[in-house]
Amino acid sequence: MPTDRPAPVPDFLYGTAWKEDRTPALTELALRMGFRAIDTANQRRHYFEAGVGQGLAAAYRAGLVTRADLFLQTKFTYRDGQDHRLPYDPDADLSTQVAQSMASSLEHLGTDHVDSYVLHGPASGYGWTDDDALVWAAMGKERDAGRTRLLGVSNVSLGHLEQMQAAGAETPAYVQNRCFARRGWDRGVRSFCAERRIVYQGFSLLTANPEILRHPLVGGIAARENATPAQVVFRFARAVGMLPLTGTSDSEHMVQDRASHALTLSPDEVRTIESLSG
Ligand SMILES: NC(=O)c1ccc[n+]([C@@H]2O[C@H](COP(=O)([O-])OP(=O)(O)OC[C@H]3O[C@@H](n4cnc5c(N)ncnc54)[C@H](OP(=O)(O)O)[C@@H]3O)[C@@H](O)[C@H]2O)c1
Repeated sequence: MPTDRPAPVPDFLYGTAWKEDRTPALTELALRMGFRAIDTANQRRHYFEAGVGQGLAAAYRAGLVTRADLFLQTKFTYRDGQDHRLPYDPDADLSTQVAQSMASSLEHLGTDHVDSYVLHGPASGYGWTDDDALVWAAMGKERDAGRTRLLGVSNVSLGHLEQMQAAGAETPAYVQNRCFARRGWDRGVRSFCAERRIVYQGFSLLTANPEILRHPLVGGIAARENATPAQVVFRFARAVGMLPLTGTSDSEHMVQDRASHALTLSPDEVRTIESLSG
């Protein structure tokens, strides 16, 4: 292990996508507001990972947190998901690209290891390919070398996960998916994860589910709990075992998102929300 005390187990992830020049300040603000787990990616098209590192450095300087207080998660992104600002040599083989991307992430984040390293998405929407197997093995080598504690996959279907398992690939610690209520809140993938103690990370919980935020049941619970519909959705997500992400840029929403854990939902309410549009 790269550190002598275990990294904290996150209960909420602060997401840093699409923040561009505001990334350093918003990362620092999220830490100031109590977030201790940060999600990013070495994909300059959607993330400014070096800006996350600047925000972390500012928080360390201010004495807000130390590296050991934090859970840092980043991702390896295939060439197809990148723009021209690549963190690796596009002509290198995939294993080398993984090693180069990881080295660049560690430099951006000012650390010698991350807590979770995620394959941003499989090479094909239709299955777990030989390229994925190569990349996954290379990510495993990064873990074995101590540069990440855990591994994850993102943007995967149940089919991907089943094929990954059938191919004998190591089971991920995390699955990170966009979570649509109208698809049963990704029910099939979530139950695959639950059976294998894989932690399901849900993103776009608010933006993918406007109909849930408007639903009278959710509005009623929010009124009773003196909370907002967004907080009810985050509380629900945790009640069904998800590790939620929020990408809010608003300090008040940061406070509300974290405070959502204090809401009370009955088992019946959780079941009803789970089946609202599934
Ligand atoms: N693996 C992937 O491919 C992938 C893809 C997309 C995202 N992600 C990760 O997931 C993170 C989150 O992305 P996301 O799509 O879930 O969220 P997002 O696009 O960052 O947006 C969250 C939205 O919810 C609003 N919001 C948050 N808390 C709220 C509250 N309490 N009340 C009202 N509105 C609230 C935010 O508005 P305000 O800013 O005004 O609060 C914002 O419009 C990203 O930053 C990234 O790290 C990963």
